[in-house]
Amino acid sequence: MNANYDAHPEIGELYDHIPLYRDRKDVAFYVDLCRAAKGEVLELGCGTGRILIPAAESGCAITGLDQSGSMMDRCRTKLRALTPEVQNRITLIEADMTSFSLGRTFALATVPFRPLQHLISVEEQLSFLACVHRHLRPGGKLALDVFNPNLQALASAIHPDEIEDTAELAMADGRTMRRMYRITAKHPAEQTNDIELIYYVRDAAGAIKRIVQAFPMRYFFRFELEHLMARAGFEITELYGSLDRSPFTDSSLEMIVIATRKD
Ligand SMILES: C[S@@+](CC[C@H](N)C(=O)[O-])C[C@H]1O[C@@H](n2cnc3c(N)ncnc32)[C@H](O)[C@@H]1O
Repeated sequence: MNANYDAHPEIGELYDHIPLYRDRKDVAFYVDLCRAAKGEVLELGCGTGRILIPAAESGCAITGLDQSGSMMDRCRTKLRALTPEVQNRITLIEADMTSFSLGRTFALATVPFRPLQHLISVEEQLSFLACVHRHLRPGGKLALDVFNPNLQALASAIHPDEIEDTAELAMADGRTMRRMYRITAKHPAEQTNDIELIYYVRDAAGAIKRIVQAFPMRYFFRFELEHLMARAGFEITELYGSLDRSPFTDSSLEMIVIATRKD
């Protein structure tokens, strides 16, 4: 398991408290695609259901797949609060997205908020894309996003200190949480950075628990991604540099791809 979301059972719940994730402007982008698909949707790396749930609430039938028990537990808890009608539109599967077989096909596969960057080797990436290809109907689409590597940031020296990305905030159960991150190593030859996400959770008595999620994160360059998709039998039909569908440019922060299954 590369991504280490199961490093601690509470990571799913903590994830949902991070404003950077909670307020990310990708929900409308993916929900619009799901609604336009006119058929069932498969979401890979669905996590806690941040996008899966609004997609189902908008009327889409959607299957969410994720390998992390912690993220899926959190998703299952949130599902129980939904109306039976919405719950009936959702199927959850705990599995590895590089090796799954559901025995059916979908109109659209989505991979929101960078799960692809948890697949480190080309073998894993191709296994994943082969699985997606098998699970799409002819002409079906695949939509995913990764960050656009910032060359200056990649070349800069490692900053050994923890940097705050989430100031202390209150959780519903009375605890507080603060989150830091740091890059512990850079491996340009492998196109990976080693990341630590560090949660500090303070209980009502003031005791602080330190929870660390450490993982390597792969980055992709634009034409690498295009070649990878072509090799796996996909044709990129749309490429954007941000979630508002603006073009991919020198200064784009995101790389968002919509591809069609070639037969
Ligand atoms: C950054 S989270 C994104 C979650 C969700 N898509 C969202 O937008 O909030 C990445 C997710 O990818 C999942 N993931 C990473 N590697 C995976 C794999 N090999 N198979 C299935 N899920 C994987 C993680 O468990 C995690 O839930």
